[in-house]
Amino acid sequence: MTTASDLQEHPLNQVHRLIEPGPVILVTTRHEGIPNVMTNGFNMMVRHEPPLIGCTIGPWDHSYAALRATDECVISIPGSELAEIVVDVGNCSGQEVDKFQTFDLTPVDAESVQAPLIAECFANIECRVVDTALVDSYDLFVLEAVKAWVDPSRTDPQMFHHRGDGTFTLDGETVDLQDRMTKWQYLL
Ligand SMILES: Cc1cc2nc3c(=O)[nH]c(=O)nc-3n(C[C@H](O)[C@H](O)[C@H](O)COP(=O)(O)O)c2cc1C
Repeated sequence: MTTASDLQEHPLNQVHRLIEPGPVILVTTRHEGIPNVMTNGFNMMVRHEPPLIGCTIGPWDHSYAALRATDECVISIPGSELAEIVVDVGNCSGQEVDKFQTFDLTPVDAESVQAPLIAECFANIECRVVDTALVDSYDLFVLEAVKAWVDPSRTDPQMFHHRGDGTFTLDGETVDLQDRMTKWQYLL
């Protein structure tokens, strides 16, 4: 039987590496006409209907000011083929560089928000900020998805997840356990 003495204490400042967040996403904004994009690993679904997404974006990011000023963004979901670009996007600021130009990302007009979609991403979600109650304390924006797009040519996109230290896990095999989802039929 395993006892506590068989286990190794894990540093609390590394707990984020145990609980993997959602996929690495790109968040685009458009402030005073200028589009920008940042990389985000701390995100999660909060509610199915309406679709609400929690996203931690800190005041050290240029995107934070854009989001506070406009209350709009797009969550663009990159496939693993974009992993290197996505990390580079998260290692510089829109305050200094035009990231769309520098990283050869193609902005596409969204329908419901001013922030652009990204053509190279397999999915794009147009979002509005609906709750800022936790922004001052946790930099946590609650976003409502108001429009979503997928690229139909991308039949099997592979998301990737930050392990918190510059290493990433790529999505792997899909396991189908739908026949056990007896209580949650409406999700299938
Ligand atoms: C893999 C990765 C994940 C990141 N996750 C977040 C995050 O969840 N929240 C955040 O505020 N910044 C995160 N960052 C940092 C921002 O992407 C970074 O500060 C970026 O330069 C901000 O761009 P901006 O100043 O143009 O807004 C992440 C960076 C990387 C490389």
